This record gives sequence, C-alpha cells and structure tokens, in this order.
Amino acid sequence: MQAAERQDSAPPRPVRYGLIGCGDMGQVHAMNYVQQSGLVETVAVCDINEANIRALLKHLPDPAAVRVVTDYRALLDMDEIEAVVVSTPNDRHLEIVRDAFAAGKHVLCEKPLEVSLARSRQLVDAWRASGRILQIGLVYRYSPLFRTMAEMIRAGKIGVPLMAWCHEFRQPFPVGRTREWRYDAARSGGALVEKDCHHFDLFNWMLGAKPVRVQAMGGQLAVKGAGLGLVETGVIREPYPADLVARSGIYDHAWVNVEYENGTKANLGLCFFAPDFGLPFGVLGSEGRLTTRLVDGRLEWMRYDYARGAHETAVIDRQSAIHGFGQIGHSGGFDQHVEFCRCVREERPAFCDGQVGIESLYPAFAGQLSIAEGGRVVTIAELTETT
Ligand SMILES: NC(=O)c1ccc[n+]([C@@H]2O[C@H](COP(=O)([O-])OP(=O)(O)OC[C@H]3O[C@@H](n4cnc5c(N)ncnc54)[C@H](O)[C@@H]3O)[C@@H](O)[C@H]2O)c1
Repeated sequence: MQAAERQDSAPPRPVRYGLIGCGDMGQVHAMNYVQQSGLVETVAVCDINEANIRALLKHLPDPAAVRVVTDYRALLDMDEIEAVVVSTPNDRHLEIVRDAFAAGKHVLCEKPLEVSLARSRQLVDAWRASGRILQIGLVYRYSPLFRTMAEMIRAGKIGVPLMAWCHEFRQPFPVGRTREWRYDAARSGGALVEKDCHHFDLFNWMLGAKPVRVQAMGGQLAVKGAGLGLVETGVIREPYPADLVARSGIYDHAWVNVEYENGTKANLGLCFFAPDFGLPFGVLGSEGRLTTRLVDGRLEWMRYDYARGAHETAVIDRQSAIHGFGQIGHSGGFDQHVEFCRCVREERPAFCDGQVGIESLYPAFAGQLSIAEGGRVVTIAELTETT
C-alpha cells in the first residue's frame, strides 16, 4: 500500500465521523465539514463541556441530526461511526485513541501524539496492533505550500539541502475557557512539544533525515521573571492571569539546534511575546534556497550559479492552488480531511501516520531536556533507549 500524498477527487461516499473534543480545534474540523458537504457525515459529537458542544454544532450543516454525548465511550459504541477525530487536550489522546482502536475506528488524532515519549510510544503501539488508520494532525504535511517545497527539494532545485530554520515569533498561547491546559507542561507536554512539533516535523521532512542530537537554550522570560509580565509590555492582546503565571511550567522562548544523521542542521526559534505571527521558514541548499512565511503562502526560490557568479529567483504563489476551498486554521487543514477520507475508503495508510508523529517529537522532547539541563547536548538515542 502506498501512503496517499495527493488528492484527485472526493471519496465516493461520506465517511461517517464522530468528533471527540469540541473546543477551538474541534470547531475548526467542524467548519471543514460545512465547506465540503459530501466528504463526511458527522454522526455524533462529544465533549465534557456542553458550551463547547453548542458552539461546535453551529458549524455543522444539520445539527439536529447529530447525536451529542459527554462520554466518548458512548460515541465509540456507535457502530455506524467509521472514524473519529480526536481534538482533546494532549494528555487525553492516549486513552481515547487506544479505546477508539479497540472499538475498530479509524483515527485522525490532533498533534502532538501525547505529553511524553513513553505515552506517545504506547499510542503508536496501539495503532500498529490495531490494523486501523492513524493520521496525525500535522497539517503542514497536507499543505500545498510545503508539498511544493518538498517536491522542489527532492527535484534538486536547491542542490543538496543543508540547513533549515523556522522562527515562531508569536503571541502567547490563548487563555480563558478550557484552554489553559497548554500552560501546564504535564497536560500539554511543554511548548516545544505542543506547538513546535509542527516545525520539527517540517525539518525532518525537508532535510530527509533523522535527527540525532539537540542543543537548546530557553526559559520563561515573559511567563515568569525579569519583570517582563505581559501586561506591562503592552504588545500582547491576552495577558497571562496572575495565577497562571505562578504555576506555568512551559518555556516561552528558546533557540533549539538540531543535528541530523547526514550532518545537516536545523534551528528553531520560539518566542511567545512577539505581537505578530509571520513564521518565516527556510531551507538552504548547496545550490540555492527556498524560503516562505507561513502567513502569506508564497514560496521564494533562489538558485545560485557560483561559476557565473549569478543567481536566478522565482516566487511561487501557493495560495491559489488550494482546490477552491479556504484553508481554515493552518494551511493543509482542509486537505488533511480529504486525504484521511480517501485513506479510509481505499484502506491506505496515512501519509502523516504515527511514525511521522513520533519522529516530530524527538527534537521537541530533546530540546526541552537540553534547556532543563542548562544547554547540554542531548542525543535522540538516549531518549529512545529509555522509553
Ligand atoms: N493541528 C493544529 O494546527 C492544531 C491547532 C490547535 C490545536 N491543536 C491540537 O488540538 C487539540 C485540542 O486543542 P484545542 O485548541 O481545541 O483545545 P481546547 O481547550 O480549545 O479544546 C479541547 C476540548 O476538549 C474537551 N475535552 C477534554 N477532555 C475531554 C474528554 N475526556 N472527552 C471529550 N472532550 C474532552 C474540552 O472540554 C475542550 O472542549 C490539542 O491536541 C492541540 O494540540 C492542533
């Protein structure tokens, strides 16, 4: 079986979905259904928070036809449901996904897999034993922008890829309602896990190699210490409540260097006290470079000709290639459902499966350990051998 990388047409009949977790991301998944009726049929939704259920139902084309439950096991008992989308906080993924496989469902589970490598591995083991499809919500794997970038790199457009970088300089995680679990490292896995698994995955994909060691420095400049309370900076829309500041264990800034088995290198910058959200990402090769800003969907290509001392450039606009449907959330958010449904219908493994999911977490957990240990170089082998 070949993993699906491209979508050509809609699946023949709707995939019958159950949605578990109706918060911000669950609602984004629901919005996708509205845009592409015929792709899926939402049979049931589940959340322990009834206000979030009500908010999500507003997005569905026929809310009255949807069954509502507050215990996910009741949803998994519904024989008519073929696949579930799990959008709960990260520390709830293992239990729910394992039970979903036991109930015979296919699973589209939000990133990251779980809050520790041990729990992530248990989730992957449950998937491998199940014979079902597991797709992880690393949406950029489905983004036309990044697929174009990966194709250009594989086609040699920048020579041999050597270095990659990503600067996630952004506003802090949201607060309020049910969302504060992200500030608790035990519930989110920590900021590099919760957020930057996306970008470490892009490094793995673009450099086409496995990470071997990581060195990182970071801390809590804004969340705690240095008098940098976000209220005072005046640039952040959602200041941290004082009690959250007191108990948060996540890093709010970091520089993370990753070395790959083939000697290539990547650098991630994380900053949670910047007012904008540009997310520049780039790959430098032996003969050129590709750069983008995730916000505008344009890919800039430069190829060097050292012999002539010249270079050529091109701008590739990938916004127009999004199949006529707006991408809600990150780029790839809609396409991931198209491909997931194709995988379910055609019984094919997902392009972004559990293995891709766990590999995205190696640099994240190694980076957090490196920060905790004063910048020590952490090998991926030491993490994988102990879990
Ligand atoms: N792919 C992406 O780009 C992306 C973006 C944002 C969030 N996410 C991921 O999506 C997931 C959810 O994030 P969010 O922003 O929607 O969080 P959220 O806090 O807005 O929503 C989580 C929801 O899960 C519900 N929930 C908690 N325990 C439950 C249980 N046992 N059964 C049913 N419902 C339960 C909560 O009540 C809440 O409504 C996380 O894993 C997050 O990392 C992914």
